Amino acid sequence: MEDTITIDPDYNSANEWDADDLDSETTSITSSVARGRFQNGRRGPSDEQQFESFEVGHMLFLMLDYDRQNPHHHAPITQPPKHILDIGTGKGSWALDIADMYPSATVRGVDLYPPPVNWEPPNCVFEVDDILRDWTWSEPFDLIHLRMMLGAFTPEGWDRLYQQCYENLTPGGWIEHMELDVRLQSDDDTLKEDSYLGGWGPMFIGCGERSGRSLLTQETMRGAMEKAGFVDMHEKLYKIPLGPWPKNKILKEIGRLQYFHWTSALEGWALWLLTKYGAPSPWTNDEVQAYLAKIQVELQNPHIHGYEYARRVWGRKPTEEEARAM
Ligand SMILES: C[S@@+](CC[C@H](N)C(=O)[O-])C[C@H]1O[C@@H](n2cnc3c(N)ncnc32)[C@H](O)[C@@H]1O
Repeated sequence: MEDTITIDPDYNSANEWDADDLDSETTSITSSVARGRFQNGRRGPSDEQQFESFEVGHMLFLMLDYDRQNPHHHAPITQPPKHILDIGTGKGSWALDIADMYPSATVRGVDLYPPPVNWEPPNCVFEVDDILRDWTWSEPFDLIHLRMMLGAFTPEGWDRLYQQCYENLTPGGWIEHMELDVRLQSDDDTLKEDSYLGGWGPMFIGCGERSGRSLLTQETMRGAMEKAGFVDMHEKLYKIPLGPWPKNKILKEIGRLQYFHWTSALEGWALWLLTKYGAPSPWTNDEVQAYLAKIQVELQNPHIHGYEYARRVWGRKPTEEEARAM
């Protein structure tokens, strides 16, 4: 079963905006947090900046489901959950929230790098490991969550990962995966294909293909999950405005968050991929910086009404009864 794609009817109604929309004292709390972090001219070491971009991404993803009581996951897990896993936990924000939400559960956040966390609730455990290695956890999970892992694995890596998820879920347990589509578009033709922002998605998808780790994860993840054996698949597609151009107040806020998400993450996204897999040959650092400066100019153009898609997919491991009937 597939959830209907609901898009606000007001979506395409745009407002002109100016720098005040990103600076104003009157903006909401979420963007004040982001603004405080990103507009003070403070730029920490790149990993600090990356963690900050993960944090804004986290706020953004929660905001996309502002109308749900629980914006953290859609999978209807059995209550109370006992074991939950967050793969590629990054800054650990989702895992920490979930540990608060479900005191009954042990929540594990796994990443190649330790999250910058000074304190975690006793039921939240962060582990540094490569998730592609053999898993050694003994208790099966009720929910496994992944978000923004695009480009992390080869197709074989994804197959292996989903297989391990399947094997390590309790019968009837859920997997949930959310990804961004890196391509930008507009419905009113204000974002031109031949602009820098219009070329962004295709260019990075090309880098992803050359690296063997496709960035089109949001398109392939559902099929790969089904291949691993998951059933009862659901999905939800979101439209994420880039910049505070929508007239609708919530979408404007989402657009503002996505602007901060982009500006904090740009360098991290672009430097690695372009200097390794840029076309026609790997780019120099200076070339990447010059390109990013042009992207920044377009990001601040209030006449461009760009958006990206994000997709959330969730599915279930068959129950024991269903498995017997298969
Ligand atoms: C873009 S971040 C997303 C962080 C977090 N899921 C979120 O939505 O904020 C991707 C994370 O996946 C981690 N990652 C990539 N490959 C991994 C692997 N093989 N094993 C564990 N973590 C991995 C990266 O270190 C990074 O922190």
